Amino acid sequence: MHFFKYRAEELFAEDVPVKKLAEKYGTPLYIYSYRTLFRHFKAYDDAFNDYPHIICFAVKANPNPAVIRLFAKNGGGADIVSGGELFVALKSGVPVKKIVYAGVGKTEDEIRFALKSKILMFNVESERELREIDRVAGKMKTKAPVALRINPDIDPETHPYIATGMKKHKFGIPIEEALEYYRFASTLRNLTLVGVHKHIGSQITKISPFVDALKRVLILIDDLNEQGISIQYLDIGGGLGIPYRDEDPPVPKDLAKSLIPLLKGRGLTLIMEPGRSIVGNAGILVTKVLYLKTGEKKEFVIVDAGMNDLIRPSFYDAYHQILPVAKKRRKTVLCDVVGPICETGDFLARERELQKVEQGEYLAVMSAGAYGFSMSSNYNSRPRAAEVMVNGREHALIRVRETYSDLTNWNRIPKFLK
Ligand code: LLP
Repeated sequence: MHFFKYRAEELFAEDVPVKKLAEKYGTPLYIYSYRTLFRHFKAYDDAFNDYPHIICFAVKANPNPAVIRLFAKNGGGADIVSGGELFVALKSGVPVKKIVYAGVGKTEDEIRFALKSKILMFNVESERELREIDRVAGKMKTKAPVALRINPDIDPETHPYIATGMKKHKFGIPIEEALEYYRFASTLRNLTLVGVHKHIGSQITKISPFVDALKRVLILIDDLNEQGISIQYLDIGGGLGIPYRDEDPPVPKDLAKSLIPLLKGRGLTLIMEPGRSIVGNAGILVTKVLYLKTGEKKEFVIVDAGMNDLIRPSFYDAYHQILPVAKKRRKTVLCDVVGPICETGDFLARERELQKVEQGEYLAVMSAGAYGFSMSSNYNSRPRAAEVMVNGREHALIRVRETYSDLTNWNRIPKFLK
């Protein structure tokens, strides 16, 4: 459910016409709906209401500080994967005791930063990383709270690029070896073992992979208890899918209904790391039609947003619905919606049945709130888009559009070229 709906023939972001925002802020433009973000966050919070939990929003899905702040103000935390994300989370007002840190390649500087900040826990992905965190914590005369990220070898049945919890993936520690790892970790003096972590993939549209993975991890927790290693936090990662086209993924309530009975009476605090399922459908990318072009084989709608603004279609062949901001009665045509970038792979949609649009009109690329702006780049020296948040009738710029001078700001001409 989201608040981007047509009123009569015009697309609105909550109570504001999308066209008005496009005219005011320019395009390409990311628009987020406050009410949708809030609603999706609350859906998790309410669903897990009767079990101790922390919802640590996966910052990578949308690192805009206004978005993160919205969750923080409502009791949320952050799942981070870099020093940069830690910085952004802290700046956005996330309480440090609600920050968990995953990722296979944490650097010494990043580990120091997280230890100094006193985050809730590190989700550790290898033996070498355990040793490194122990070493750095020792040097800092502190103790590092850690969970081990377990790879439960579960197929999440999603796009292969975003599956993470199978044997062939670089993530986590094989579940069969987990006990050994915990035993080893418990011998390291500068670590405190506080949790177990898993994250099996993204855009998962079934409940069963979550249930199967949790069952495996709970067996591990029982084994750990037997060995006298008691765990406080169980972090089950993120991964719940969203409808992009006709998918019908479970909602947090369904997840809670299946998972909570397995967790009852265990005295754990549950951590979740949703990203896409909170922000995905809460954001759209608005783009303007620059030209129409009739190719030999098909029609091209050339728009001012490219793969640098939204890479998901090019990268994962992902489907994003595209809607005209002004809906009219008109014929449909089969077309490719393409950007201005000099790559054949620069498309937002291929072989898509669309209303016959006109030059100069606006289109809305739906479900662009997750991994949209966050994966955008300056490719082809294109300034990155602006971002706006709408709340009822109010709207505010939450990221200024980059300018040409931003493009060269970080470059230096060496002496020998002056
Ligand atoms: N926790 C960890 C450790 C993760 O690696 C991820 C996502 C999440 C949580 C959040 O997963 P979510 O709830 O958003 O599914 N760029 C891809 C998605 C990559 C996901 C990476 N990890 C895309 O555009 O589909």
